[in-house]
Amino acid sequence: MLEHDVLVIGAGLAGMRAAIAARDEGANAAIISKVHPVRSHSSAAQGGINAALLDRGDDWKEHAYDTVKGSDYLGDQDAIEVMCQSAGQALIDMEHMGVTFNRDDEGRLGTRAFGGQRRARTFFVGDFTGQAMLHVMFEQLVKSGVRSYEEWFVTSLIQEDGRVCGVTALEIRTGQISAIRAKTIILCTGGLGRVFEPSTNALIVTGDGMALAYNAGARLMDMEMVQYHPTTLAGNGVLMSEAARGEGAYLLDKNGERFMEKYAPNMMELASRDVVSRAEYTEIAAGNGINGCVLLDCRHLGEALILEKLSQIREIGIDLAGVDMIHDPVPIRPGMHYMMGGIKTDVDGLTNLPGVYAAGECACVSVHGGNRLGANSLLDTIVFGQRSGVHAAQASRNVEYIEFDADTVVKQEEQRIQEILDRPQNGDRVASVRLDMGLTLDKNLAVYRNQAGMEETMHDLRALKERYTTVPVDNKGQIFNTDLVFALELGFMLDCAETITVSALERKDSRGAQARTDYPDRDDENWMKHIVTTQGDEGPEVSYAPVSVTQWTPEERKY
Ligand code: FUM
Repeated sequence: MLEHDVLVIGAGLAGMRAAIAARDEGANAAIISKVHPVRSHSSAAQGGINAALLDRGDDWKEHAYDTVKGSDYLGDQDAIEVMCQSAGQALIDMEHMGVTFNRDDEGRLGTRAFGGQRRARTFFVGDFTGQAMLHVMFEQLVKSGVRSYEEWFVTSLIQEDGRVCGVTALEIRTGQISAIRAKTIILCTGGLGRVFEPSTNALIVTGDGMALAYNAGARLMDMEMVQYHPTTLAGNGVLMSEAARGEGAYLLDKNGERFMEKYAPNMMELASRDVVSRAEYTEIAAGNGINGCVLLDCRHLGEALILEKLSQIREIGIDLAGVDMIHDPVPIRPGMHYMMGGIKTDVDGLTNLPGVYAAGECACVSVHGGNRLGANSLLDTIVFGQRSGVHAAQASRNVEYIEFDADTVVKQEEQRIQEILDRPQNGDRVASVRLDMGLTLDKNLAVYRNQAGMEETMHDLRALKERYTTVPVDNKGQIFNTDLVFALELGFMLDCAETITVSALERKDSRGAQARTDYPDRDDENWMKHIVTTQGDEGPEVSYAPVSVTQWTPEERKY
């Protein structure tokens, strides 16, 4: 029987950081991931990681205030304090592990400005910071001796007497189902971007961890808070990093005007993401865009800077849009990028399920509230990844493995999967259900929302769930049956889509990423609270949780 004190699901930055921390605490830790760790989506994070360093005259409280304001006062201030206070050390730890952050002219770690922050406190490696951090973290993982189950897809959490005690997992290479026993589990499976179409997220980002937890009784929180990034490439939604605006790029309308002056006269293009996305959407809707886009203009930054600091997005622009940003502005528009909500945890990553932790994008601590600041997500992964690893390792010292009948559990899971494989071939294809789900969410739960649109999506989702029960799997084989994996992922995505829509319908104000045309104002009296969803017999059930306010009184947001 495979068994571990701490089993981390997901091998992005949060997962690897958690596994290393658990191992450092002396735990028998393992990591399990549906892809090889360096193919995790953390690799796609471009612009950088925030930290307030004292020797720059910066202060964690300023970073925390910017984060609280950015969250539109929905972020829990106690958790934000923890994250911002830990940021400096977490950054230096990464540097000491080997991340080659860009340097400034004096040889110190360099910074760039990022949206919603009054200071340049974003540390970076060109415009591929996540990739640089991920590869270094993988080296540390290998060095730590943590066992790594690569290309294993977790299909369910095993529960015995109401306690999660392991997982069932499909080894994608062989098609074999196994049970793995664990004293504690840390979910670090990332976001759910591909529930929307298009998205900046990799195709693997399918909300698996959120759905696994939700199906096991966990609370999901702030699921209505979906971030649309202001600069995604026309046509395909690929991310064009905020680093461009951090380095000084402009946003232009069809007349070449910097329209952000109307919406955020002080911060201009570097207002918070929700504000910039709404501005772009408004301009495009008013006919001031070009083919459904506005323009990201980097020409004045000069070739040398672009080649040194924005080389990846320059290549993306050339390869995917045929535009070289050295010479021409790039057509961009708001696109789905990040999930602020997720599995509700405390600051040590613990969920309401004993022994189950979560960290990174799949978790909601909640440090991002209604709108995440750019470059706070890499920070979130390493701060809360580490804390959950330490805490889970410590907790696992005090508990015994829970016995369960592994043969029966595996047989039941094999049977469930065989039933999917045995379906007749006449149902709708996975790709078609997945696309329709993505399109209805992008239509009605994007930058602006309203009751009628969201009800339409709710209606669509019911029909899609029905269609899902008959999606066939064409490949009946055992070896690398990715067709089967896609079908299982789609089930997770539909669960997530439902909780997003139910939560967004529940919240009757506009706050952060939720901008309702039918409730255009923020209403702190009635809605300064978190929306929590749990699985009920008839779908998601809604409750509320209070927002932690420590030192920053809510006020109107202006940039
Ligand atoms: O625009 C970006 O580089 C994205 C960064 C982030 O989401 O933190």
